[in-house]
Amino acid sequence: MRKIAVAMAKGGVGKTTTAVNLAHGLASRGQRVLLVDCDTQGQAAKFLGQKPEFGLYEFITERQENGQVIARNETLHRTRENLWLLDGGIRLVELKNWLGEQPRDIRQTVLAQKLVPRQGALDYLIFDCAPGWDVLSVNILMAATEVLCPVALQGPSLEGLKTFFRYLQSAQKINQQLRLEYILPTMFDRRTRHSYQMLSQLKKHFARQMCDPIHYSVRLAEAPTLGRTIFEYRSSNRGAFDYENLVRRIMKNGSQEQGQP
Ligand SMILES: Nc1ncnc2c1ncn2[C@@H]1O[C@H](COP(=O)(O)OP(=O)(O)OP(=O)(O)O)[C@@H](O)[C@H]1O
Ligand SMILES: [Mg+2]
Repeated sequence: MRKIAVAMAKGGVGKTTTAVNLAHGLASRGQRVLLVDCDTQGQAAKFLGQKPEFGLYEFITERQENGQVIARNETLHRTRENLWLLDGGIRLVELKNWLGEQPRDIRQTVLAQKLVPRQGALDYLIFDCAPGWDVLSVNILMAATEVLCPVALQGPSLEGLKTFFRYLQSAQKINQQLRLEYILPTMFDRRTRHSYQMLSQLKKHFARQMCDPIHYSVRLAEAPTLGRTIFEYRSSNRGAFDYENLVRRIMKNGSQEQGQP
């Protein structure tokens, strides 16, 4: 099973857009995917047009907010064929408090210890991370093995990257399996020189991890307002093509790791 964290400390760079479309793209290709929303904004469910009753809070604590015990499999919400969601949202504030109360030596690895699907039940775990850095972010980087880092080709500079990589390095000291595998440029606008400049800067620093960019597309921003992925909303759109391309790259990477042609 592949465990991919879509993470970047900076906000609004396309993490959720990427996590949701990647998860659905993989599921459409017959991969069994669990998307884990680790953000108090609970955007992943909205992007998929869902309102799950339970989610990550109940999965980890095995309790409902009223204290009643709940079975873990009841917290997984099936959203599409082959695609399940562990919902995030405001209850994650409570989850972070709960994590903070756990003994120091296990606090960072609670998620990794608990999120162990049955052998062969899933092909991919995709984590949609929140911006910033806290006890839950650390837990995700302890549970994941691959990091996909979306970088928006807009704004003043590649700000935030350095800070984020410092976080990543500190996580790698504890989770030695964790690798930065993909740098995904997002919101690429062919009309601006700035986009090209940022792209070439990234290529220079991250030749191996560099993915083809996701173009800026109004359709990508519209799709979640209707609770649809780009493949459902406009399958012939440039954004759908770009995300399909990413899906192919990620699947190919996996087959190389397993020594397949
Ligand atoms: N390639 C794109 N072209 C146009 N709009 C996009 C693109 N990618 C994302 N967006 C839009 O930009 C906004 C931010 O995207 P998204 O929510 O995916 O970012 P995020 O990194 O998850 O944000 P946050 O840090 O708040 O969780 C959303 O309105 C989304 O629809
Ligand atoms: Mg998000």
